[in-house]
Amino acid sequence: MPAKPIPDMHPIKVREFVPEDEIEDKSSLLPVFLKIWNAPENLLYLSQTQIPFASEVVQAWLENHKKQGGRYFCAVDERGNILGVMVVKESPVEGFEIYGLGVLPEHKGNGVGRMLVEHAAIAAQDHGFSDINALVFADNAAMLCLLLTSGYKPVSMEPHKRSDGTDAVRLKKYFGTIR
Ligand SMILES: CC(C)(COP(=O)(O)OP(=O)(O)OC[C@H]1O[C@@H](n2cnc3c(N)ncnc32)[C@H](O)[C@@H]1OP(=O)(O)O)[C@@H](O)C(=O)NCCC(=O)NCCS
Repeated sequence: MPAKPIPDMHPIKVREFVPEDEIEDKSSLLPVFLKIWNAPENLLYLSQTQIPFASEVVQAWLENHKKQGGRYFCAVDERGNILGVMVVKESPVEGFEIYGLGVLPEHKGNGVGRMLVEHAAIAAQDHGFSDINALVFADNAAMLCLLLTSGYKPVSMEPHKRSDGTDAVRLKKYFGTIR
């Protein structure tokens, strides 16, 4: 009997990019970051002002993220294409926060967002944090569902955070003991 063909699994992995140090990381991340962040269906949930992100601004972030505690994690396919990006901000004083997360519109609903959120918890614990924070606009059903089903709890509201008056919800996930 002929052997069954092996299914094409297209594995997706999460890799940290360090655009401040690695020129290849910067040049591959910049266009995808702009594409994800400025896609109108994403911008609504990623910008307080709703003004599209300018290339020069993002480039400056990528060139100076380390001092600010910014770290970039990307979900990449087997060819190295970036499908989703997560920015975290870590500070021994202020804590560890998922600062931005976005998936290319054509790759949504395939588990990329959840993979990145799970990776945030690993990265936070690796650096000794015992909780993780996120701020989500109150009308962002997808991200709220993702976080609530990943063990995050709403802890406070930030009123009128977006320029159309939409509030934001602050959520936290505690590692270890359940509170
Ligand atoms: C939120 C976002 C990151 C989710 O990424 P994704 O790869 O599409 O999500 P996944 O396929 O990993 O889905 C994980 C969970 O998210 C939730 N979810 C995803 N899309 C959803 C939708 N359209 N409606 C409701 N819940 C949804 C579900 O709980 C889902 O779990 P399930 O598949 O077991 O039901 C993505 O939709 C996105 O880029 N949104 C725009 C930017 C944004 O909102 N970023 C967050 C800013 S705080």
